[in-house]
Formats: sequence, C-alpha cells, structure tokens
Amino acid sequence: MQLREPCAASTEALLRETDQRSYQAISSSPLPEIEVSPIVTPLQDRHIKKASKSWVDAFEKDPNRKQTPDVKDATQIIMFCVMVYWRRRKIALTVDAGASIIFCTAPKSPRSLFDRCADWRAAEVQAKVKTAVSRSLGNRVEKMLYIDTLATEPTSQGWGYGGALLDSVGALADVTNQAVWLQSTNERNASFYLSHGYSTIDEAVIGDDNPNWHGAPVIIKIMVREPRPQRAARTDERQGFVNLV
Ligand SMILES: CC(C)(COP(=O)(O)OP(=O)(O)OC[C@H]1O[C@@H](n2cnc3c(N)ncnc32)[C@H](O)[C@@H]1OP(=O)(O)O)[C@@H](O)C(=O)NCCC(=O)NCCS
Repeated sequence: MQLREPCAASTEALLRETDQRSYQAISSSPLPEIEVSPIVTPLQDRHIKKASKSWVDAFEKDPNRKQTPDVKDATQIIMFCVMVYWRRRKIALTVDAGASIIFCTAPKSPRSLFDRCADWRAAEVQAKVKTAVSRSLGNRVEKMLYIDTLATEPTSQGWGYGGALLDSVGALADVTNQAVWLQSTNERNASFYLSHGYSTIDEAVIGDDNPNWHGAPVIIKIMVREPRPQRAARTDERQGFVNLV
C-alpha cells in the first residue's frame, strides 16, 4: 500500500545534473515545475543501513542528544541493530529507501532492551518525561500508539518526507480509532507536529533544577493527535493497513 502526500520538491532538485543538461539539449523552454508525492513504503532490511545513517545525521544537532564525532559511528551501528529489531516489532515506514523513517509502537508492546538502547538519554530526562506522561495521559497511554522516532536525512529535509510518514501513521490511527503520542524535543519540530494535527498536552523541563546542567533548560513537549472520525472504510483499504503493519 502506498500513501501519498503533496511535496514541494523542485524539478531541479529531482533531476540529476546530467538529466538537466539532457533536458536543456532538447528543449529551449525552462524546466516545468512538477509536483511530486513522497511514496511511503514499509521499511525493508535492505533500507536499514541508509536509515541508520539518516537517523544519526538527522539527530546530530539535536539539543537533547549531544553526539560527539567519536561516538557517531558507534551510534550508527547501535541504531542499525535497533532498527533491524524494531522493523520486526513496530510499524516501520520509509520514504526513499531509508532517507526518511518513522517507527511507531502499538499499545501494550513490552519495552525491550533495544528500546532502552535507542533512548540513552540522561536519567533526569527519562524521569521527567515519565512524570509528565503519567500526569497528563495516565492509563490512557496504554491504549495509544507511540511514535518512537521520526527522522529525515538532512539533505532531504523540507521535501515533505517526514510529513508523509507522520500522516501515514495518522491515517492508520484514524482507521483503528487510536490516539497517537510523541515527544517533541525542539520548537521547530513542535510547529511541524502542530501542522500535522498534534497538540501539546504537557511539557517536561530538563536542566532547570539540575546544578550540573550547563546550557539553557531543554523543553520536551508531550504531544497528542486524537483520532479523526472515519467514513466507513472499504474492506480492501483495511486489508491494506493490515499488510502495512
Ligand atoms: C523533523 C523532521 C523529521 C521533519 O522531516 P522533513 O522530511 O523535513 O519533514 P517535511 O519536509 O514534511 O516538513 C518539514 C517542515 O519544516 C519546514 N522546513 C522548511 N525548510 C526546511 C528545511 N530546510 N529543512 C527541514 N524542514 C524545513 C517545512 O516547511 C515543513 O513545515 P510544515 O510541516 O509546517 O510544512 C526532520 O527535520 C528531522 O529529521 N529533524 C531531526 C530529527 C528530529 O528532530 N526528529 C524528530 C524528533 S521529535
């Protein structure tokens, strides 16, 4: 099943330089603008090498996951193993064979060692997020889908890939009538999630009361997307979602 979302990537960006020269050789008119749609597909094992690199590069500047160059390679190997495991146990989707990826946990999935490897944030971060989630979602969290991670390689950001993946999970959540939650670690992402139907329900402030924290406090927003009422889905559409998961 392929889910599509409009994308604003320019024609120039899509044609390799040689293709652009070939076009100019046969046409005197400028390149026409075409609209392309990112194609969302299930993540396959053959995508994971690229996916783990996309993830590490995407998070390189994340305020909440400081990565020094010497740990970057090790992180990529760890994320490769995590993704091989996650692909078999979570909703795992991609655009462009690993350039952009999303992993989403179904309700009541047990937290594994691989989940802990992927979330190696400081104990303070984990404790404060846990408090905010239980304060604002309570037991409801057990019935919700959870977006573990979403990342697009830096050179493909802004082309609609991340939005298409997020909307695919949203479409699945609508069909199954489930809410989705996630943690947003910076302000720019929060506005991206807002534009895809999420709203902030709580915040965890990291570093505000920690004498060993040397930067500005980091705010992690707990964001939720409620399911939207569905028109009666056709049987083949439902079957498609079953296959997707
Ligand atoms: C957040 C992230 C996944 C978005 O992926 P993406 O493929 O760039 O997503 P899209 O292209 O669909 O949308 C990006 C948004 O940023 C805007 N944007 C503009 N220029 C951009 C650029 N150069 N790079 C990225 N985003 C840009 C887009 O307009 C869009 O906003 P909109 O949703 O209001 O239209 C990606 O930026 C990323 O990997 N960031 C680092 C990792 C991260 O923070 N992950 C999320 C953890 S909470």
